[in-house]
Amino acid sequence: MRNFEFKNPVKIIFGEGQISKLAKEIPTDSRILMTYGGGSIKRNGVYKQAIEALDGYTVFEFGGIEANPDYDTLMKAVEVCKKNNITYILAVGGGSVIDGSKFISAAAFYEGDCWDMVVNRRNIFKAIPLATILTLPATASEMNEGAVISRRELKEKFAFSNPLLFPEFSILDPTVIYSLPKKQIANGIVDTFAHILEQYLTTTDHYMVTDRLAEGILKNLIDLAPNLLSKDELNYNDCANYMLSATLGLNGWTAMGAMQDWATHLIGHELTALTGLDHGETLAIVYPGTMKIMSSEKKGKLLQYASRVWNIVGESDEEMIEEVISKTEKFFNSLGIKTHLSEKDIDKSVIDVIVNRFEDRKINIGEKGIVTPKHIRMILESQY
Ligand code: NZQ
Ligand code: ZN
Repeated sequence: MRNFEFKNPVKIIFGEGQISKLAKEIPTDSRILMTYGGGSIKRNGVYKQAIEALDGYTVFEFGGIEANPDYDTLMKAVEVCKKNNITYILAVGGGSVIDGSKFISAAAFYEGDCWDMVVNRRNIFKAIPLATILTLPATASEMNEGAVISRRELKEKFAFSNPLLFPEFSILDPTVIYSLPKKQIANGIVDTFAHILEQYLTTTDHYMVTDRLAEGILKNLIDLAPNLLSKDELNYNDCANYMLSATLGLNGWTAMGAMQDWATHLIGHELTALTGLDHGETLAIVYPGTMKIMSSEKKGKLLQYASRVWNIVGESDEEMIEEVISKTEKFFNSLGIKTHLSEKDIDKSVIDVIVNRFEDRKINIGEKGIVTPKHIRMILESQY
């Protein structure tokens, strides 16, 4: 196990009907900016619950934060914060609204070019306090310090993080899942699965605790997926267990002492920026490729993943690895998600653009920097 430091200050308020507790958590003299997306919260009753809970507060609103939150939209919200002396941000939505709100909270005090703050992750010394009501379990942004911001004008998408961006609290009411389109549930399952793999599928260096945690969450996702996707009437406990899985998927717990990869996410972000594919869709395409192309480097962990998560018993290591990659890909397909770029009508030329970007940045990615631009080309070509 590797040395590590861990701190996660986010208070989680979990369960049906908990949105009503909102007001207890926010200072009464706050000038709140409530941020949200394209309107799902107005259709499923979450907006009404939040507004009712905030009775007596000074509340401003900023709606219209799009999936893969865009820099230009968010800069408009930064102006709203400055103009109205906002002292608290309440993000009500999925990962995009929460990430966008983290950006707004830091950009409101940032001196200089706010895109530079994202790309070069620098100079964040102050941020507006932030809390969230999560409506889409997937990213775990509700319990981490990261944010991923897109800039459509440049066809770019980057992640940045800072301890000041941890939400103060997040309300997780599993009934918000009832109104989610199946496609978003499927995207969220893939995203959570991929978060765990990024922190798990590396080396076998005695990460006994985090390995078992990770394997447990992966197995839960495999078990829960058919219920969440095939039924029209969702079961509360399925939703609750899925919601908690997604939050634990990237709140730092499964990273403690472990080596981490993240190559698939970095390649996936480029795919979203260049083609508009959903975040979950990119991961379902790239992850099987990462497993195939990096199978020698990840051999020990792939074998552990095969036997402990998928109960695979094979004649040889090679056979087991081939089978587990195929099972993972079929699992993504079983959620209704494609795993090849050509199936999404993506032009092959995007592979050159992505490889060139990584070459220009002069960085290798993955655990120990083992994924070079050459590997990135092979990964994407294997999943064309
Ligand atoms: O905009 P509205 O109308 O709210 O609709 C949203 C959006 O169209 C809808 N939705 C959300 N909750 C709903 C709902 N529809 C009905 N009922 C509900 N309860 O779902 C659509 C997608 O929402 P979005 O927030 O974009 O999805 P997600 O949570 O998957 O977030 C994706 C973003 O998070 C980033 C991704 O890159 C992407 O930009 N990530 C953030 C991470 C982090 N901060 O740690 C880590 C992840 O790896 C990821 O990169
Ligand atoms: Zn993700």
